[in-house]
Amino acid sequence: MKLLVTGGAGYIGSHVTHLLVARGDEVTVCDNLVNGHRAAVHPGARFIQGDLLHADTLRALFDGRRYDGILHFAAYTLVNESMERPWRYLRDNVLAGGNLLQAAAEHDVPRFILSSTANLYEEPQRLPISEDEPVQPGSPYGEGKHMIERMLSWMNRLQGMAGCSLRYFNAAGAHPQGHIGEDHRPETHLIPLVLQVALGQRDEITVFGDDYATPDGSCIRDYIHVMDLAAAHILALDALAGGELRACNLGSGHGYSVLEVLASARQITGHAIPARIGPRRAGDPARLVADNRSLRDWLGWQPQHTALHPIIASAWNWHRQHPRGYPE
Ligand SMILES: NC(=O)c1ccc[n+]([C@@H]2O[C@H](COP(=O)([O-])OP(=O)(O)OC[C@H]3O[C@@H](n4cnc5c(N)ncnc54)[C@H](O)[C@@H]3O)[C@@H](O)[C@H]2O)c1
Repeated sequence: MKLLVTGGAGYIGSHVTHLLVARGDEVTVCDNLVNGHRAAVHPGARFIQGDLLHADTLRALFDGRRYDGILHFAAYTLVNESMERPWRYLRDNVLAGGNLLQAAAEHDVPRFILSSTANLYEEPQRLPISEDEPVQPGSPYGEGKHMIERMLSWMNRLQGMAGCSLRYFNAAGAHPQGHIGEDHRPETHLIPLVLQVALGQRDEITVFGDDYATPDGSCIRDYIHVMDLAAAHILALDALAGGELRACNLGSGHGYSVLEVLASARQITGHAIPARIGPRRAGDPARLVADNRSLRDWLGWQPQHTALHPIIASAWNWHRQHPRGYPE
């Protein structure tokens, strides 16, 4: 297939691009490199450095080109930042998504896969979280994603564009070869932060609250291996039939606590990884775990790495080989 991957120099987009190129798809990657890394882009992909907010980027991507599908990863991605800088999320992310959808519609692109988020479920009533849970975004970040989901639903209704929103839980881990991995600056995700302590780049880790109603008192999250997450995109792309519209939760279906992550990382790295218990963070629910049955039923997808150990071991493999991340 001829595919456009936006945000393909970022963490998840680069892993998906690697799988697509490996199976022979013709991939164009677009990224403004604001948070992405040129070295993360597969050398077999065509790379266009540009911002989806700019008309010249859209022209460079679409003029004289035909795509069988678009996978849209490009976005600002920090929930906390979105509370302080809401317009990056309610304006820039939404406009970038709208510009891309408009171009996709004008060029008759038949399939569109959107990176959405579990942040659409701020206070889930039932666990694990299914797609029946009412959408209630927990931040401007989540609200922006919801707006793009809604735009996609209109392109589906008006144009018959097949659309799939994948609502990710916590992506973690790295490609098994360890040549690409997670390099967010600043880093806010638990597993890479813990591994930064093991690398001597950070003194300790703060555990935000140990008095939640969970077995060990720390928060429980659903960590999905980035390769499992990437595999789901490929299956969704192939399965998405004309005119279809779906929204699916994409998590491993297993929850692990912050203290379990720490224990596993200590075992894998052989480092003591000192931790300090801090106060709870506002708005942090005790437990967020995906009900991934709709995706499994639709695609026959099965996450291969549901235990914590292989997820953290693959992340460690990448971080140990690239302690400073990608070259500047
Ligand atoms: N990492 C997670 O656990 C997680 C969880 C839920 C949802 N998501 C979503 O998945 C997607 C990928 O996340 P990630 O962790 O790989 O983030 P990332 O920051 O590593 O990748 C996003 C990429 O998009 C690029 N980008 C941003 N705005 C752009 C624009 N206007 N034009 C062109 N390029 C632009 C950035 O430079 C970056 O390379 C995002 O949409 C994010 O919201 C991620």
